[in-house]
Amino acid sequence: MAAVDSFSLLLREIGRSCNCYMETLALIGALYTAKMGFTLMNDTYTLIRLHFIPRLVKRADLVKLYGKWAVVTGGTSGIGKYYAKELASRKVNIILISRNQEKLEALAQEIVNTYKVETAIIVTDFSKGSEIYPSIERALAGKEIGILVNNVGVFYTHPDYFTSLTQDKIWELINVNIGAANMMVHMVLPGMVQRKKGAIVNISSMSCCQPTPLMTAYSASKAYLDHFSRALHYEYAPQGIFVQSLIPFFISTNLTTYSRHLSKKSFLVPSAEEYARHAVTTLGISRRTTGYWLHTIQFLLGQYLPEWLWAWGTYRMNNSLRLEATLQRPH
Ligand SMILES: NC(=O)c1ccc[n+]([C@@H]2O[C@H](COP(=O)([O-])OP(=O)(O)OC[C@H]3O[C@@H](n4cnc5c(N)ncnc54)[C@H](OP(=O)(O)O)[C@@H]3O)[C@@H](O)[C@H]2O)c1
Repeated sequence: MAAVDSFSLLLREIGRSCNCYMETLALIGALYTAKMGFTLMNDTYTLIRLHFIPRLVKRADLVKLYGKWAVVTGGTSGIGKYYAKELASRKVNIILISRNQEKLEALAQEIVNTYKVETAIIVTDFSKGSEIYPSIERALAGKEIGILVNNVGVFYTHPDYFTSLTQDKIWELINVNIGAANMMVHMVLPGMVQRKKGAIVNISSMSCCQPTPLMTAYSASKAYLDHFSRALHYEYAPQGIFVQSLIPFFISTNLTTYSRHLSKKSFLVPSAEEYARHAVTTLGISRRTTGYWLHTIQFLLGQYLPEWLWAWGTYRMNNSLRLEATLQRPH
C-alpha cells in the first residue's frame, strides 16, 4: 500500500513539474510565433513600401536630388542599358561606358533622340585593370556626376567548378566585378562629397547572400560588392551620399544565355527593361534591395534557409544549368 501511495505521489510530482516545463515551452512557442508574425508583417510592409508605393506617387526628381549626370558602366546591354534609359527618362544626362564604340554611339544617339538629354560615351575595357582609369578620369572631368551605377559585371560561360576557370577569367572577374566599382567610386565620390549629394548603385547578385557553389568566384565578387556598398553607406550617408546594394536574382540578358530557361522572360525572370523600371524606383529609398518585388519575395524566403540548405539547393540548380549548357554547346 505504501509503495502504491509513493508511486501516485511520484506521478503527481512529475505532473506538477511537467506543467512548469509545458508552460515554459508554451511561452517559448508563443514568443517564437509572435516574432515570426512580426517578421512576416515587417517583410510585407517593406515589400509594399519599397516596390508598390513609389510606383503610385510622383517620380522623384533625380537631377535635383543627386545631380545632372549619371555614369553607367557596362551600359550598352542588359540591365545597364535599360537602367540608363530609365534615368534618362527622368532627365538625367547619361555617360555610358563599355567596350564597343558602335554600340555605345548607337545607344547614346537613341537616348538623345528619345529623352532629349545630353549623353557622352567612354570606350574602355575594365578587364585591363589599373591602366584604364586615368583616361576615364580625364573624360569625366568637369561633369557634375550625381549618380554612379556600377553595373559592369562578368560571369563564367555557365556555372562551373572553380578549377575549370582559366587564370585569365579569374583576373577578369576580379578586375571587372571588383576593381571597376572600387576605382569608379574612388573617382567620383570626392565630387559628390563636395556637393553634399550623390547616389552610388553597386549591382551585386543574389549569389552574394550565401555561399553559392559552382559560382564560387562570381558569388564571392558579388558578396564583396554587397559589403563594400553597405560599409560605404555607413561611411558617407552623413555627408549626404546614398549608396545602394542592388541584388537582382535571374534576369534575361546576355549573361544568362547559357540556359534556355533563363534567357527567356518568365514570371520569376524579368526582362532587363522591366527590371530596370522597378529598380530605379527604389533609388534613394532602400540601401539594400533586390530592386524587383518578385525577387524580394525570393530573397526573403532565401534568408530563412540555413547555409547548408542554400548550398545544397544552389549546387543542384547550378549543376543542372552546367549540364544543360555543356550539352547545348556545339562540339
Ligand atoms: N542577368 C542576371 O541574371 C544578373 C543577375 C544578378 C546580377 N547581375 C549583374 O548585373 C550586371 C549587369 O549584368 P547583365 O546581365 O545586364 O549583363 P550583360 O547583358 O552581359 O551586359 C554587360 C554589359 O557590360 C559590358 N561589359 C562587359 N564586359 C566589359 C568590360 N570588360 N569592360 C567594359 N564593359 C564591359 C557589356 O558591353 P560590351 O560587351 O559592349 O563591352 C554590356 O554593356 C552585372 O554586374 C551582373 O553580374 C545580372
